Amino acid sequence: MKEKVRIFLPEHEVNDRIAEIAKKISEDFAGKEVHLICILKGSVFFMCELAKRITVPVTMDFMSVSSYGNDTKSSGVVKIVKDLDEPLEGKDVLVVEDIIDSGRTLSYLIEILKQRNPASLRLCTLLDKPDRRVKQVDVDYTCFNIPDEFVVGYGLDYAQKYRNLPFVGIVEFVEE
Ligand code: IMP
Ligand code: MG
Repeated sequence: MKEKVRIFLPEHEVNDRIAEIAKKISEDFAGKEVHLICILKGSVFFMCELAKRITVPVTMDFMSVSSYGNDTKSSGVVKIVKDLDEPLEGKDVLVVEDIIDSGRTLSYLIEILKQRNPASLRLCTLLDKPDRRVKQVDVDYTCFNIPDEFVVGYGLDYAQKYRNLPFVGIVEFVEE
């Protein structure tokens, strides 16, 4: 089987929507600083585009997590592969995620981050597949709700490939 990628959300649509969400975040955090947490690696492209468009002061940190268990289904028990450099105590934190699928990874991660006593903790995602949710997660900012399809591009990968595509595409498998 070989895979093909079909454009689902073109670059200009993604960028326009990120600009809208960044405006909303800037309004909601007016008079404050926002501390962005990028969940590596998928969220890198989204976080950069978002951060550039936020007009309140921004600081950022990076975290890498992996889910225990098999590759196709996240177990919900998260291993911190790279932890944050800075404490969260007293900060207004915004977690930036690429996609929420079952919600297992994020519901676990949010609990870990809450224990670090941020002043506030919100969540922003580029993509959400609400039909797939197993664990409830409160998402404050969603750019796009999408159907249950496997997507790549704009940071998202299939076997570590396609992260650099400037659009969000759906992976289709074709007979060779
Ligand atoms: P969850 O714990 O099931 O919500 O897992 C979410 C994680 O699975 C995301 O952060 C992605 O790394 C990965 N993931 C889920 N759906 C997709 C997809 O359609 N394309 C690429 N990665 C995905
Ligand atoms: Mg992710």
